[in-house]
Amino acid sequence: MALCSPLRNVCLESPMLWTGERILFRPKTMNNLALYGGTPVREKPYPSWPAAEQLERDQLTEVLSSQQWGGHGKTVAQFETLFAGMHDCKYGIATATGTLALELALTAAGIGEGDEVIVPAHSFVATATAVSRVRAVPVFVDIEHNSYGIDAERMNLAITDRTRAAIVVHFGGLPVDMDRIGKISQDHKLVIIEDAAHAHGAEWHGQRVGSFGLCGTFSFQNSKTMTAGEGGILTTNSEELAIQARSVNDGGRRETEGWFNHFELGSNFRMTAFQAALLSAQLQKLTERIHLREENVEILRDTVCTPGISFQVQPDSVTAHSFYLLVGRIDEKTFGVNRDEFVKAMEAEGIPCRPFYPHPLYKNSLYTEPESPLHRVEPCPEAEFATKDSFWISHRALAGSSEDTLDISRAISKIHEAFQPEKSNGEPSIN
Ligand SMILES: Cc1ncc(COP(=O)(O)O)c(C=O)c1O
Repeated sequence: MALCSPLRNVCLESPMLWTGERILFRPKTMNNLALYGGTPVREKPYPSWPAAEQLERDQLTEVLSSQQWGGHGKTVAQFETLFAGMHDCKYGIATATGTLALELALTAAGIGEGDEVIVPAHSFVATATAVSRVRAVPVFVDIEHNSYGIDAERMNLAITDRTRAAIVVHFGGLPVDMDRIGKISQDHKLVIIEDAAHAHGAEWHGQRVGSFGLCGTFSFQNSKTMTAGEGGILTTNSEELAIQARSVNDGGRRETEGWFNHFELGSNFRMTAFQAALLSAQLQKLTERIHLREENVEILRDTVCTPGISFQVQPDSVTAHSFYLLVGRIDEKTFGVNRDEFVKAMEAEGIPCRPFYPHPLYKNSLYTEPESPLHRVEPCPEAEFATKDSFWISHRALAGSSEDTLDISRAISKIHEAFQPEKSNGEPSIN
């Protein structure tokens, strides 16, 4: 069956389509698209990720020849100190994954059964499941149109006398408005946990994320801009929280007490020395890599002037965006094609582009089944829109040269032009 763009009424698979009212034609320009057999904008892949350089290999070799491959030696401790310091924090507690860092944050902050925790309606599922796993109640709040971060106004309205905390997500690497979140936190005595899984090195007013709330959590999963395949860390300036988190992370031990003395209902969420070795190497390249991605995004800002496409808006207070993802949206009517066709066309042109999350978190079966964990959903129109019109481009595509980056603009214009209706001379054009 022929597919038809609902907006331009152009037939995608056959040159002609009878709609019942009139015959529609696929514009000739669409044949240029790689999706329909044309030459792609680029055949050369973008830099692969993850990528090991000599520094990573050297650091791993050092661990291999040591007697401490686990989480208790100097490799993990040094990484914790360095990463926390680079994120304007005194303490870092490294974990096996970012999900565990979130669970650790909630547990160490004493969040538990019956407490409500506000979370954004769009994020990776761990932002919500961490709350459910400590038996607290996630309250799903809408995101903002421009930033894709939690909507502070709506967050304020969702607060009840059971609300103990909020997890804010610096989505794609763009810091949430921490001035407004800080004010809400003060007014309502809320614990703020920054889920900075996407935002290594990102800054709000020159201060790095992970240092604004009671604590921050980061992920080092395979696709992240710093990775050890898996990994996570909790960052904080609170000595009290750090002591508690370190104990929970380490089987309930206390640093000054004996190995077999356990004081908390803890667990073992620890990071290995191998993970820390890889991450210590990448930490040295963090700022330089952010600058490269920022420079390349500047190129895109200057060259993508196609109507109907817009990118996540970066307020002046954001002094560094980590650009884990370049998030954007398509206005079908103006751009000429819907988001799903756009993403397919971009991929075919050689640009790593993906549709946004397919549904808000509260529409995962986990939260829709009758036996689902307790939760509450506030009105989330923006979150619903984003599933249909938004997309993201991987940081890999921002890690190349300016020419590599320009291919993103070229692909966008090519797709836009291909879907414009042909200038008619009065005769239908059949190609
Ligand atoms: C926003 C967000 N929070 C938390 C996580 C969980 O991190 P991890 O995959 O390291 O467990 C992710 C992972 O992608 C994420 O995107």
